[in-house]
Amino acid sequence: MSTFAIDSAGSRVLRTEASADSATMRAAVFVAPGRLELRDVPRPTAGPGEAVVRVTLTTICGTDVHILKGEYPIRSGLVIGHEPVGVIAELGAGVTGYAIGDRVLVGAITPCGQCLACLSGHLSQCGHGEGYEALGGWRFGNTIDGAQAEFLRVPNAQANLAKIPDELRDEQVVLLADIASTGISGAESGRVRPGDAVVVFAQGPIGLCATAGARLMGAALVIGVDGDDTRLAMAKRMGADVVLDHRTTDVVSEVRRLTGGGSDVAIEALGTQETFESALRSLRPGGVLSSLGVYSGKLAVPYDAFGAGIADVEIVTTLCPGGKERMRRLMALVQHGRLDLTPLLTHRFPLDRILDAYELFANRRDGVLKVAITP
Ligand SMILES: NC(=O)c1ccc[n+]([C@@H]2O[C@H](COP(=O)([O-])OP(=O)(O)OC[C@H]3O[C@@H](n4cnc5c(N)ncnc54)[C@H](O)[C@@H]3O)[C@@H](O)[C@H]2O)c1
Ligand SMILES: [Zn+2]
Ligand SMILES: [Zn+2]
Repeated sequence: MSTFAIDSAGSRVLRTEASADSATMRAAVFVAPGRLELRDVPRPTAGPGEAVVRVTLTTICGTDVHILKGEYPIRSGLVIGHEPVGVIAELGAGVTGYAIGDRVLVGAITPCGQCLACLSGHLSQCGHGEGYEALGGWRFGNTIDGAQAEFLRVPNAQANLAKIPDELRDEQVVLLADIASTGISGAESGRVRPGDAVVVFAQGPIGLCATAGARLMGAALVIGVDGDDTRLAMAKRMGADVVLDHRTTDVVSEVRRLTGGGSDVAIEALGTQETFESALRSLRPGGVLSSLGVYSGKLAVPYDAFGAGIADVEIVTTLCPGGKERMRRLMALVQHGRLDLTPLLTHRFPLDRILDAYELFANRRDGVLKVAITP
């Protein structure tokens, strides 16, 4: 059921969900490195062009763990999380074509769709109506309140609310917001072609989705690399033909042997010098290194692994693509049976127990891959 309310100035009409009148909500708030608290905070409202979504399912990303450890700085008091599925609870003025109660998926990256970056196709480097801003499209749980809460304010709602087809459950789409969009983009940016040999370094949630992405793009041989038995087993389930354990195998020479001289595309999905360098050394001349990892400190490119700069090797990087059209395409893959990420949702928690969920996820206990959080 919906109600209509006119704001005090009487100048704009807000459409709101009747049941959600409370002024506060539960949310996971970043306080300081190592300190996350479940708090009651003011419930967001929708300004012009915005929407408020009542979150029905969310999850925790490895990036949230980086934030919690103080490795990626955000301001104290921010609600974290950037992977929301929910129901539209409020629509601000100017948002058209949606109704209260619509089920929506919102990408981790929320481009404005109007700035120079967006209009040149670099939606993740969105400048919010102006020019370009590095990582500017990543706002939830970074520069504005995020999704680990009962309600979420969505900026630029017209560009970012992706309606969920009726037949898809929340669990089938929640991982599309970030890890699937990112992982699959690793294969797309690497321009994987039918018949290619692709090696994916690391089989965490991102690498597993890159493995699935390489398969979707038509790779003939997909090699997954990790050092965790559960993850290597999941790599096979997500589409790897061969898995290599970096603890016991000389991965570079094994990839060169399996591919007859080097892979067409190597996807880096960890963010270390070691895996970056191994990815480079695994490539054939003219191959593409598609890098998804987030690095810290310096990253070196050894001249011998790079053909001294003239082996026609390409290195490309990608930030998770967002926006409603990206989400629609990813949901179409699920809807038509091409992609199933539900095996990655290994654990479930109510929002009230999100601190336990962080503890499990951050320490990779009990074979966890992703946790489903229900507000
Ligand atoms: N580009 C983007 O938009 C984007 C988005 C989200 C996350 N990321 C980044 O992607 C990376 C991976 O994220 P995740 O959540 O999958 O990480 P994760 O920590 O869950 O998984 C990392 C995996 O790497 C494996 N590993 C460790 N050392 C290895 C080695 N030497 N060789 C092969 N595998 C090894 C581990 O066993 C683990 O399974 C991180 O750097 C993260 O910050 C990037
Ligand atoms: Zn993330
Ligand atoms: Zn923009």
